Amino acid sequence: MDILQHLSVKPKRWLITGCAGFIGSNLLETLLKANQIVVGLDNFATGHQRNLDEVQQLVSPQQWANFSFFNADIRTLADCQLACSGVDYVLHQAALGSVPRSINDPITTNDTNISGFLNMLVAARDAGVKRFVYAASSSTYGDHPALPKMEANIGKPLSPYAVTKYVNELYADVFSRCYGFHSIGLRYFNVFGPRQDPNGAYAAVIPKWTAAMIANQAVVINGDGETSRDFCFIANAVQANIRAALANIEQSDVFNVALGDRTTLNELFNAIKQGLADNNVAYDQAPQYGDFRAGDVRHSQADISKARETLGYDPFYRIHDGIKLAMPWYIQQR
Ligand SMILES: NC(=O)c1ccc[n+]([C@@H]2O[C@H](COP(=O)([O-])OP(=O)(O)OC[C@H]3O[C@@H](n4cnc5c(N)ncnc54)[C@H](O)[C@@H]3O)[C@@H](O)[C@H]2O)c1
Repeated sequence: MDILQHLSVKPKRWLITGCAGFIGSNLLETLLKANQIVVGLDNFATGHQRNLDEVQQLVSPQQWANFSFFNADIRTLADCQLACSGVDYVLHQAALGSVPRSINDPITTNDTNISGFLNMLVAARDAGVKRFVYAASSSTYGDHPALPKMEANIGKPLSPYAVTKYVNELYADVFSRCYGFHSIGLRYFNVFGPRQDPNGAYAAVIPKWTAAMIANQAVVINGDGETSRDFCFIANAVQANIRAALANIEQSDVFNVALGDRTTLNELFNAIKQGLADNNVAYDQAPQYGDFRAGDVRHSQADISKARETLGYDPFYRIHDGIKLAMPWYIQQR
């Protein structure tokens, strides 16, 4: 990535919250490989030490020495303040993901995703960071029927999780107006790739199905399989974060981060099956079909022209490229 070469010339100090999670640990890997100085913050609510250990294996000892870690909680303002001190760019990823988790436990989701977010905004503002980039979500489109999704047209949220992500955007906007503190929200659409957790009740669809297929277990599709999503390989999301941090924008704004494509769950099932077969893992069971899941939107596909035009975002990896790159990692985990 050309911008990373440019950055290596004069390293900056980055804070990644949620750095032990899926997206956070991939951001960490990319930034350390570009010889940046990185501060990480995580409380291991859903992230893992093994993700940090894996990044350590993938970078040089000198690059790893540029990383410092706070085992801390964004729900504590003092932790956020300590972590933000002296930082140039914040990539705020820490949150409790998953629509079903938020339906089962809206209070903890709210505390982390809204109060924790507000703490981070205040801490970043007071530390005078150059740019606050945060993980927003396609769930903010809620019940708006239009496809593809354009940033300005949102509907009503369909889950507590979606409410929290929308409130983040509202706070970010208000911080721009009240304090002149500008930030950029990246509305991720189903990001996938290595280190996305396949375990637990709230696992995302790609890691969950991949792990089930590797273990030769049944795959259950919620609904009729014609539900569609815009699956985005992690390297595209990493690129969007770095471009957003460095962008010359003097206001708060939000951008879709996706591929701009639509894949049904039935197509996804076949793509993963093929990706495993290419790695000599055979799966011959047919999928089972279950009930539709509460809070899920039926179709999702992004219009990514705003991110392309304003940030120079160029999602290089298509879904099949991503599946090809991710499968060996999942096979290694068995
Ligand atoms: N993966 C996706 O497809 C997707 C889509 C839309 C939005 N997002 C958002 O992107 C961000 C990263 O998601 P992910 O997929 O990497 O999930 P993840 O669960 O792997 O990572 C989240 C990280 O945040 C940490 N965390 C949670 N609560 C915390 C707290 N109170 N204090 C400190 N750390 C805390 C977790 O331990 C974890 O390491 C989240 O904000 C999520 O809502 C992800």
